[in-house]
Amino acid sequence: MEIGSMILLFSCVLFLLLSSCATLDTISTNQVIRDGDTIVSDDKMFELGFFSPERSKNWYVGIWYKKISTGTVVWVANRETTITDKSGMLELSRQGNQLICSGDNTVIWSSNLTVSAMNDNLVVVVQLLDTGNLVVWDRSTKNERVIWQSFDHPGNTFLPGMKIGKDLASGRERVIIPWKSADDPSPGPYLHWLDTNGYPQIFVRKGSVIRWRSGPWNGLKFQGWSIENPNPIYSIQFVMNEKEIYYKYDLKSSAVQRVLVLPDDVAVPLQWMDQIQEWVVHTIGAATDSCGGYGLCGPYASCNANRYPPCKCMAGFKPQVPDEWDRANGSSGCERKQDLDCMSGSGFKRISGIVFPDTRRSWYNHSMTLEECEMACRMKCNCTAYANSDIRNGGSGCLLWFDELMDTRENDDNQDLYIKLAASEFAGDSYARDKKDNNVQMEDLDELPSFSLNKLIKATDNFDINKKIGEGGFGPVYKCVMEDGQEVAIKRLSETSKQGLDEFKNEVICIAKLQHRNLVKLIGYCMHGNEMILIYEYMANKSLDTILFDETKSLMLDWPRRLNIIHGIARGILYLHQDSRLQIIHRDLKAGNILLDGDMNPKISDFGLARKFVGSDTAAMTRKVVGTYGYISPEYAVHGRFSVKSDVFSFGVLVLEILSVHGCIFTWLGSCNVSEVLRSIHVGLLCVQHHAHDRPTMLSVVLMLVSEGVLPQPKQPAFFTGQSDGEVQSVSSVDEDMITHLYAR
Ligand SMILES: *[C@@H]1O[C@H](CO)[C@@H](O)[C@H](O)[C@H]1NC(C)=O
Ligand SMILES: *[C@@H]1O[C@H](CO)[C@@H](O)[C@H](O)[C@H]1NC(C)=O
Ligand SMILES: *[C@@H]1O[C@H](CO)[C@@H](O)[C@H](O)[C@H]1NC(C)=O
Ligand SMILES: *[C@@H]1O[C@H](CO)[C@@H](O)[C@H](O)[C@H]1NC(C)=O
Ligand SMILES: *[C@@H]1O[C@H](CO)[C@@H](O)[C@H](O)[C@H]1NC(C)=O
Ligand SMILES: *[C@@H]1O[C@H](CO)[C@@H](O)[C@H](O)[C@H]1NC(C)=O
Repeated sequence: MEIGSMILLFSCVLFLLLSSCATLDTISTNQVIRDGDTIVSDDKMFELGFFSPERSKNWYVGIWYKKISTGTVVWVANRETTITDKSGMLELSRQGNQLICSGDNTVIWSSNLTVSAMNDNLVVVVQLLDTGNLVVWDRSTKNERVIWQSFDHPGNTFLPGMKIGKDLASGRERVIIPWKSADDPSPGPYLHWLDTNGYPQIFVRKGSVIRWRSGPWNGLKFQGWSIENPNPIYSIQFVMNEKEIYYKYDLKSSAVQRVLVLPDDVAVPLQWMDQIQEWVVHTIGAATDSCGGYGLCGPYASCNANRYPPCKCMAGFKPQVPDEWDRANGSSGCERKQDLDCMSGSGFKRISGIVFPDTRRSWYNHSMTLEECEMACRMKCNCTAYANSDIRNGGSGCLLWFDELMDTRENDDNQDLYIKLAASEFAGDSYARDKKDNNVQMEDLDELPSFSLNKLIKATDNFDINKKIGEGGFGPVYKCVMEDGQEVAIKRLSETSKQGLDEFKNEVICIAKLQHRNLVKLIGYCMHGNEMILIYEYMANKSLDTILFDETKSLMLDWPRRLNIIHGIARGILYLHQDSRLQIIHRDLKAGNILLDGDMNPKISDFGLARKFVGSDTAAMTRKVVGTYGYISPEYAVHGRFSVKSDVFSFGVLVLEILSVHGCIFTWLGSCNVSEVLRSIHVGLLCVQHHAHDRPTMLSVVLMLVSEGVLPQPKQPAFFTGQSDGEVQSVSSVDEDMITHLYAR
């Protein structure tokens, strides 16, 4: 490269007061820089002037390193329009306060300022900063204002502190466009940009064809980058707020670094080595998992360039055009083995070790938890997958995909993606069988039969005390035989009941719409004057507590029966939480509300306190904490906050009770399967963890109970004691020994 020779021009005379006639540290209005003159940054690291690349006859205004490696250009002004001789001039024009580069008396390039800068009263100065940023300042007011800066117009060099991304206020995008060739700074065919549609990702295109896509920012780096962050040399930052979305890097040491993007699109991070006076490649290029451009494998497939053929359908999907796939052409992608049907429920399959699918049409929320995210995806029919948006601190935030999952690549990133599949994909376990049962009743939701009071009075011999079989949540329960011979249980709202009309109605509305073999079935109701009566199917073995807490009867609950009860309750709750048309939180799960039929199958009852949720509303607050102490979760007891996780907690208590009540654990060990017992205890402990977000969802519970995989280690469980004034205190400590003891191997 040839730097304009230091010819003293007429203009120099005007600036004799400056330290050197040909090097300035600022340019003021009407000052002219000609070929041979330069301006220099304060620390003398960078210099601006005219240069001509080695095998070129053209002249350019550019910025290069001065102190080191003289001639390494980092920015070029007139990339597209060249000056063919040494007649070039760079000046700060009074009209419009712009930087203008001209040659042969024609304007070659200008900083193209916005109208607001065209003001006579401005005091405008051009300065080359120590960062390599050429800035046009307005110093007319106390606060200097940037009117224009070269960092807003990057070329082929990504310098520390430079922002690549979008200024949302002005709409200006800062992109990287490599040179056409080493001697020709004009824009080449490649373009690097931060795409701000959906959740931001980096893209590279050549012409109009996408050549590479990073995954989204995961809190530390863009997925697919081989760069470690944090690292000792530089910090990488991604910023997303109302004003701007960008990424940048800053050096942590005094090292001199730049990232050069070569004409063939290879990004090379370079570091200046003083000892050998050379630029050395600092790390290997950022993008290493290329799969030959964008979407090589089509939707719902993942690509691995090291495999042949590189494409593979995701679990639950099959090739769309098998013939093509057989010929190692996966570009048509994959389709579902089982169609998604919003009404009949769905599950999620976790996949890891991938760069996430394209997020340009995704939705995100940084404050949601993974559970909230799952629920949000479940609630939206067209949601196809979800994931945490940030991997830090064990994961946070929510990303949802709504369309085909495109351009998924396999790599070492261990961020989990959860893909929505039809519930029937999880076949093989009893969960899937339950699904089938459910579908039928979902569609015929006829009005619940109403019974006349007379009929009921007759059936119960006027509510004869001898027909009373128990006391339910809001009144006595009678057993009787209807005219058609059907045995039923009748629950009558008593006048002295703590619960009232609201709970009664709630129960009717809630349970009328639910049908599952682990939920007690409501046959009808009766409302007449002050009388409010519910008619249920009859449960021969009453409630679980009457058996569990009876030393003699509990002997009849051998291990297979106990396990069946645990599984049944879990499936019943899962149905309430996830599979029914409404999402229902029971809020009062306890042994007394689990009824047993003649075959000892469990059925959940008493929906007086249940709450329905529609849409993505999955947690709520209440001032009135209701439920049963001992079964209610700490966040609900203390803060009145309830969610599906409060039910999970109660379920955990139930499981532990079923396993250990009265220290009977040894009395039924004869029939037991130790690995199943331990697994159930483990799941129980996971459910009673202190923090709601640590507890598994009911789907996980059901899957954990039937699978044989390794379970996560439970954290500290919660214990609390009821106080006489109804206040409940959370005592979040428990002897570690106790857990280990319970879970002895
Ligand atoms: C100046 O900027 C405007 C708006 O960004 C653009 O439309 C125009 O083409 C630019 N002019 C030149 C000479 O670059
Ligand atoms: C792969 O199949 C697609 C059609 O799905 C076709 O357009 C494409 O040309 C095929 N590619 C090759 C290399 O045969
Ligand atoms: C994001 O999620 C949080 C927590 O669920 C919620 O409070 C907030 O309103 C959500 N924000 C948006 C924009 O949806
Ligand atoms: C998803 O479906 C909802 C309506 O159910 C619709 O409003 C929304 O636009 C859809 N989103 C996408 C990305 O298709
Ligand atoms: C459960 O009900 C069945 C059928 O009525 C009965 O044979 C059995 O003894 C009952 N079991 C208990 C523990 O009461
Ligand atoms: C115990 O239960 C597990 C899981 O259900 C099963 O694989 C195993 O065969 C059972 N062992 C015995 C001794 O029944």
